[in-house]
Amino acid sequence: MTDEATRETAEDARGWRAATEAALYGPGGFYRRPEGPAGHFRTSVHASRLFAEAVAELLCRVDEALDRPGTLDFVDMGAGRGELVTGVLAALPAGVAARVRAYAVDLADRPSGLPDRITWLAELPRTVSGLVFANEWLDNVPVEVAEVDAAGVPRLVLVRRDGAELLGRPVSGAEAEWLARWWPLGAEPGLRAEIGLPRDQAWATAVTSLQRGLAVAVDYAHTVAARPPFGTLTGFREGRGTAPVPDGSCDITAHVALDACAALDPALRLPEALLCTQRNALRALGLIGARPPLTLASTHPTAYVRALSTAGEAAELTAPGGLGDFGWLLQPVGIENPLL
Ligand SMILES: C[S@@+](CC[C@H](N)C(=O)[O-])C[C@H]1O[C@@H](n2cnc3c(N)ncnc32)[C@H](O)[C@@H]1O
Repeated sequence: MTDEATRETAEDARGWRAATEAALYGPGGFYRRPEGPAGHFRTSVHASRLFAEAVAELLCRVDEALDRPGTLDFVDMGAGRGELVTGVLAALPAGVAARVRAYAVDLADRPSGLPDRITWLAELPRTVSGLVFANEWLDNVPVEVAEVDAAGVPRLVLVRRDGAELLGRPVSGAEAEWLARWWPLGAEPGLRAEIGLPRDQAWATAVTSLQRGLAVAVDYAHTVAARPPFGTLTGFREGRGTAPVPDGSCDITAHVALDACAALDPALRLPEALLCTQRNALRALGLIGARPPLTLASTHPTAYVRALSTAGEAAELTAPGGLGDFGWLLQPVGIENPLL
């Protein structure tokens, strides 16, 4: 890079956290656009109604654990356009659905056509008794990126609006402590890490909104035993992975250190959290996805085709190397873990 280019880069560069915040949620930001997340990528929610059905089953288990209260809350956190909460309400048995107070929480505006019974909020409700479910929320909580410099020192990565990067000050304070505990970087120049502190804090906010019930975060994740050496920061636009450029033209996302999120303040005295794969979580909720027997094809061809399509959707939601490898973090508050 020439001296002049370095100067230009330095002038309007800032940390990835602030750059991502502006690019995704600022005026004209990626998540403010009318097409919503579904216009650019498929989550489990869009892949199949079976996902909402499994979450409805989980809500029924929370209902039982709470002794079937008069009002049962369901919060779709980071709701996109409210697709999950809409699907969950449709999948619930009538007796449960009638008692559900349904919330969708997102920074975007309320989408037109969302059923009136769903309350749309920009922040979590203050006291929740029921299920808070966050599908692919935490990966969109902006984080700082650290990179090891030529002298072996981890520094914050600064980025310009066009995606050009340079290294800033050494990582220090709470961010350095987080790295040391959750993502220790070696001394090799170029190693990178995403500093998950804001996600730990976001998750703690979701959990502490619960008076009683269960909080669940579902995301592509990694744990301390196997962090990716160069991080996972990436962009998405119209269904394709792309370079992460913080100009509002694409999603900017990074896999989540769910094990760090799970380690909440011991002073909260919460029951132990469970971290498992989506494959295991959905199986525990009754999603099997076995192929129908071939004999059904001749006796009941329509039922066979329907069962085959359901099996295909279940296979996608539980696929190794795909959605099935997503992490589920389940934190009960005042109840036993209803998945066990
Ligand atoms: C990847 S989309 C997931 C949408 C939906 N949950 C799904 O699975 O299809 C992430 C969503 O989280 C929302 N989001 C991010 N940070 C948020 C925050 N702090 N409060 C509320 N919503 C947030 C974004 O606006 C976006 O709609």
